[in-house]
Amino acid sequence: MKTSQSVLYGDARSMMAGMSSSSADLVVTSPPYPMIEMWDETFSQKSRGIGGRVKSGDGDGAFELMHEELDPVWGEAYRLLRPGGIACINIGDATRRIGGSFRVFPNHARVLTSCVGLGFEALPEIIWRKQSNKPTKFMGSGMLPGAAYVTQEHEYVLVLRKGPRPLDTPSQRLTRRRSAFFWEERNLWFSDVWEGLQGDRQRLGLNGARGRSAAFPFELGYRLISMFSVQNGLVLDPFLGTGTTMVAAMAAGRDSVGIELDPRLRELVDERVMGSVDVSNAFNERRISDHRAFVARMRKEGRELRYVNKRYGFPVMTGQETLIRIPILKRVDRRGDGRFEVRYR
Ligand SMILES: C[S@@+](CC[C@H](N)C(=O)[O-])C[C@H]1O[C@@H](n2cnc3c(N)ncnc32)[C@H](O)[C@@H]1O
Repeated sequence: MKTSQSVLYGDARSMMAGMSSSSADLVVTSPPYPMIEMWDETFSQKSRGIGGRVKSGDGDGAFELMHEELDPVWGEAYRLLRPGGIACINIGDATRRIGGSFRVFPNHARVLTSCVGLGFEALPEIIWRKQSNKPTKFMGSGMLPGAAYVTQEHEYVLVLRKGPRPLDTPSQRLTRRRSAFFWEERNLWFSDVWEGLQGDRQRLGLNGARGRSAAFPFELGYRLISMFSVQNGLVLDPFLGTGTTMVAAMAAGRDSVGIELDPRLRELVDERVMGSVDVSNAFNERRISDHRAFVARMRKEGRELRYVNKRYGFPVMTGQETLIRIPILKRVDRRGDGRFEVRYR
């Protein structure tokens, strides 16, 4: 088995325009968040009106213009997905004092409205809870009622589908069964609130000096890719950033294409992709050892699992898990500018 990964540096809108319709199985992405200060500059460079509106305190105007920069990317994502394909969009709302008052700018609602308007069907979304222990997290008037504000300790993963899912052919059915996940993973992954997700910052050099990357955790991308695509399917991330979606796609045995505006991230993305074998294998091997631990716990409780996985020979809860094969990476090779090939054991 092998997969191919390619990174394109440029503006998502023009790069996506050059890609064929219905060619992607899944979109997993996180755009720059409108009205979060770290992205003001990125948006202002796209449209001259944005910077002026931020400066003059016109929060609503700036919010709308920033989203008008993102809307065409959602339109292209819709076109590029195959019928029944899914888009997972990680986005957080923004809280900000602008024009003399503090308020929330509901990015998730604006993106959802835009996507539904494009023809996407909305599926139940995920709340990614990022609890903070900082005493400074509470905003506003402290213990005095009226002007104290609820903390923002979550982001969203919007889940959107391009129309109904077509029926599988027999070979697609087999691939789906090989790409299945364990029963106990289903129970965790398909719950609507996600907490304590595993990142890979230390091991992949994303600490300190690299600055604020706005990367989401490896496990967030890995779960979404495993939940909504099959092995060797094509995952697209139009806002690749530090390459988390790509590293997660490689670990899960999917092809991927990532687009990134900022060419300064190239070195970091290359480094993460080339160095991902051990990190991916450690994560995948932990899925297997976690499953063995689950089997042992069930046994202790006197519950024998009725089915056996053919690849690993261990018991599984349902007949849908008998063909699961978790990819183990062998090596990653560079195949030209921004392109990589991954071979699996
Ligand atoms: C929230 S970050 C993505 C983080 C990513 N999920 C990760 O884990 O590293 C958004 C990224 O989109 C990029 N970006 C902003 N506007 C873009 C555009 N028009 N086309 C492509 N990339 C863009 C930014 O440079 C930034 O790296």
